[in-house]
Amino acid sequence: MGRILILVVTSVLILAGCVKQVEPKKDVKLEEAKLTASKAAGEFMKELKTILVAEMKKGGPESALNVCSDTAQEFAKTYSTMKGMELRRVSFMNRNEANVPDDAELMWLKECENMMKADNFNKDTVFFRVERSAKSNTLHLAKPILLVEECVVCHGTNEQIPGNIKKLIAEKYPNDKAVNFSPGDLRGLVSVKMKF
Ligand code: HEC
Repeated sequence: MGRILILVVTSVLILAGCVKQVEPKKDVKLEEAKLTASKAAGEFMKELKTILVAEMKKGGPESALNVCSDTAQEFAKTYSTMKGMELRRVSFMNRNEANVPDDAELMWLKECENMMKADNFNKDTVFFRVERSAKSNTLHLAKPILLVEECVVCHGTNEQIPGNIKKLIAEKYPNDKAVNFSPGDLRGLVSVKMKF
C-alpha cells in the first residue's frame, strides 16, 4: 500500500514537472517593465491633474487654460527625461496637434471604445506591445484616460464651456477637436515608451 502511494505521489510530481516545463517561460524583464511603465503613466496623470486643479482653484479655468496649454507639454518633457522614458497624452479628438496618436495608439483607442461598448472594460485596462531589436527591447504601453466632471469646463459642450475659455482655446488651438465630451467618455490615452 505504502509503495503504491509513493509511486502515485512520484508520478504526480513528475507529471506536474512535465506540465511546468511545457508552460511558456514568463518574460520577467517584460513583466517588470510593464509594472514600471504602468506606474509612471499613473503618476504622470496624477501630477498633471494636481497642477490643473491647483491652478483652477487659484485663478479659475481661464488661468488654468493659460498655464495648462504650455505646462502640459513642458511637464511631459520634464517628466520623461526624469524617468528615462517617453510619456505623452494622445487622443483622436486632440486639442494640440502634438497629441495625435500613432498607429498602435489609434488601434488601442478603437479597441478601448469597443471594450467600453461591450462593458468589459475596467480602470486597470492597459494596452502594450514590444519592439525587439538586436540592440534593445522597447515597451510601448498605454492606459485609457476617462473624462470626469471637472474637465467639461474645457472639454464639454458649447454650453458648458464659458465664452472667455472658448475664445482662448480658439486663439491657441484653431484646429481644436477636444470638445463635446461627457463624464465617463474615453478622452484619450496616456502612452509610455521605454527601453528594457
Ligand atoms: C482649464 C482647461 C482644461 C481643463 C479643465 C482640462 N483640460 Fe485637458 N486640455 C486642455 C488644454 C489647453 C489641452 C492642450 C494641452 C497641450 O497643449 O498638450 C488639453 C489637452 C488634453 C489632453 C491631450 C490630448 C489633446 O486633446 O490634445 C487630454 C487627454 C486631456 N486634456 C484630458 C483632460 C482631462 C481628463 C481633464 C479633466 C481631469 C481635462 N483635460 C481638463 C485644457 C483643459
